[in-house]
Amino acid sequence: MSLPVEPMPRPRRPLPPPAHPSGARAPRIPERRLPRHVAIIMDGNGRWAASHGAARTRGHRGGSRATVDVVDGAVEIGLAQLSLYAFSTENWARPAAEVDGIMLLLHEVLRDNIERWHEQGIRVRWSGRRTRAAPALRAELEAAEDLTRHNDVLTVAVCFDYGSRTELLDAVRRMAVDVATGRVDPAALVEQDLAGYLYQPDMAEIDLLVRTGGEQRISNFQLWQAAYAELVFEDTLWPEFDRRHLWRAMQTYTVRQRRFGGTAEVMPGGTAAS
Ligand code: FPP
Repeated sequence: MSLPVEPMPRPRRPLPPPAHPSGARAPRIPERRLPRHVAIIMDGNGRWAASHGAARTRGHRGGSRATVDVVDGAVEIGLAQLSLYAFSTENWARPAAEVDGIMLLLHEVLRDNIERWHEQGIRVRWSGRRTRAAPALRAELEAAEDLTRHNDVLTVAVCFDYGSRTELLDAVRRMAVDVATGRVDPAALVEQDLAGYLYQPDMAEIDLLVRTGGEQRISNFQLWQAAYAELVFEDTLWPEFDRRHLWRAMQTYTVRQRRFGGTAEVMPGGTAAS
């Protein structure tokens, strides 16, 4: 089934997400303790495949299923923004068959879920360089953005051909043009001005960064946006991850004290904790 080209108005009442097959329900987290923006480095597909004697692409297929469940779980718990590291600027260096397999899965995930996500009020955004994606995938990602542009239940940023250094380089290039043409005074620049040149400037800073698969590194993901993120590293390989792991990571977040370099605890959105 191909994507509708024209944006369709979302039904007035968003469709609730399907429940997890186990029947597990989202824990109640007080709104003031809920992270606004969770980012996930979805790692471990290759190792999961190897442990099952399967090709890496089968691991990515399992990873796609995990992604779909996590998106439903994010809606269920009331998360506002979710960033998913789907394909990095460095991932092009993988064997062509693996790269092609991941592209195909991205197509499939969008094709099979976009209409339901739209009915659930999910907004899809693409964060990354847009020049290297195959035209068909680029068209599909941009159609998903157009279709869901006015949704506000959950924003999902698909980080595709994303690298934080590339993002900052692209931002600085655009800012340099504005300086050269006199639109920007370099002496008057503040941090928020640079943030305004990032791929998705109106998304919140990342409150919680989760990485699966047992590795404990950031891998060039959202270096600016995650400057003060709480980090949760999860041993589970991505194909075995589901919404219950996301909820657990969010519960871990609720007991962290964030002080942003000061002494008083600060809640997401910058308000002081009472
Ligand atoms: C990392 O595991 C995973 C990837 C590079 C691909 C992830 C992409 C998906 C799951 C599709 C997501 C779809 C959407 C729409 C967001 P790895 O291969 O590096 O694992 P390894 O460290 O075990 O080798």
